[in-house]
Amino acid sequence: MKTVAVIGAGQMGAGITQVVAQAGITVLLSDIDLTSAERGKATVGKALERLVGRGKLDPAEVDIVLARIRPVADYAPMIEADLIIEAATEKEEVKRKIFAGVTPFLAPNAIMASNTSSIPITRMAASTPDPSRFIGLHFFNPVPVMGLIEVIPGLATSKDTVARMRVFAEHLRKQVVQCEDEPGFVVNRILLPMINEAVFVLGQGTGNILDIDKGCRLGLNHPMGPLELADFVGLDTCLGIVRVLYETTGDSKYRPAPLLVKYVEAGWLGRKTGRGFYDYSGDAPVPTR
Ligand code: CAA
Ligand code: NAD
Repeated sequence: MKTVAVIGAGQMGAGITQVVAQAGITVLLSDIDLTSAERGKATVGKALERLVGRGKLDPAEVDIVLARIRPVADYAPMIEADLIIEAATEKEEVKRKIFAGVTPFLAPNAIMASNTSSIPITRMAASTPDPSRFIGLHFFNPVPVMGLIEVIPGLATSKDTVARMRVFAEHLRKQVVQCEDEPGFVVNRILLPMINEAVFVLGQGTGNILDIDKGCRLGLNHPMGPLELADFVGLDTCLGIVRVLYETTGDSKYRPAPLLVKYVEAGWLGRKTGRGFYDYSGDAPVPTR
C-alpha cells in the first residue's frame, strides 16, 4: 500500500494519519476545509515532537514523517489512494455525504473503510457503488498507543477486502479482532453501556464524578475511570454510539442517560471542547459537579 486517504482530521483522523505515515505510507488528509486538514497535520507534528522529547523518535524522523502527509482541500487527489479511511463525526448523514462525494475518485481496486464506532457497516456499504470493497476499520484512541483494530466486514464485503485490511493492520503493527457487523461490534458493545451506566450512577447521585472514576481506577484497575474516558473519547461520540445501540436493537437497556444528553446539548463534549465531566481550563482537571 503506497497511499492512504483519511477523511476527518479530528483526534482519530490525526492519530490514524500519524501511524500510517510512520509506517512509511503517504497520507492525503482532508476535513471540512483545508485549514482543518492542516490543523490535523499540526496535531501529528506535536505528537511526533512529544515522542522525540521522550526519546522514542529520532528527531530526523519528524520531517520525514510530516513530508508524507499532504492536507488536501477536496477529494480529487484521492484517485491516487489504495485505501480511503473515513474518520469524520459519528453521524450517519455526515458519513453518507462523504461516501457520495468521494465515490467519483475511488480508484478501481481501492477500498473504502469507515472508522465508525457503531454505525452498521452493511447499511453504509449499500450506499456505495461497490459494497464488496467497503469495510469497517475501527481504530482505538489514542491510535498511536492502542494495539487493536477491529475489522468489520459488511454482508457484501469480499474476502479479498478483509485479507487486504488484515495485511494493512499488520503493517501498522496492530492486532486484529474480526467482528460481525452487529451494533457496537465487540468492544464498544461492552464499553459504552459501562460509560452510559456511569452517567446514570452520577445522575442518580450514587457517587460523585471523582468517586466514580476513582472507584473504577482502583477497584477495577482501569487506566481511566469511565467519566474521564468519556471526556477523552468525546461525549458527542459516546452519545452517538449509545443512540445507535438503542435504535438498532430497540432494547431499553441502551437508552442514553439523560445527563449525557444534557452535557452534549450544553456543548460540553469533553477534552476536545475544554469541558465535559471535568473542566480542563486549569492546570489539573476539575469535576463539573
Ligand atoms: N497520543 C499518543 N501517545 C500518547 C497519548 C496520545 N494522546 N497519550 C499518551 N500517549 C503515550 C505516551 O507517549 C506514553 O508512551 P510511552 O509509555 O511509550 O512513553 C504512554 O502513552 C503512556 O502515557 P502517559 O504516561 O502520559 O499517560 P498514561 O499512563 O496516563 O496513559 C493513556 C495515557 C494511554 C491514554 C491511558 O490513560 C489509557 O490507556 N487510557 C484508556 C484509553 C482507552 O480506553 N482507549 C479506548 C477508548 S474507546 C475507543 O477508542 C473506541 C471508540 O470507538 C470510542
Ligand atoms: P472529532 O470530533 O475529534 O473529529 C471529527 C472530525 O470530522 C472533525 O475534524 C470534523 O471537522 C470532521 N468532519 C465533520 N464533518 C466532516 C465532513 N463532512 N467532511 C470531512 N470531515 C468532517 O471526532 P473523533 O473522535 O476523531 O471521531 C471520528 C470518528 O472516529 C467517529 O466516527 C468516531 O465514532 C470514531 N471513533 C472515535 C473514537 C474516540 O475515542 N474518539 C475511537 C474510535 C473511533
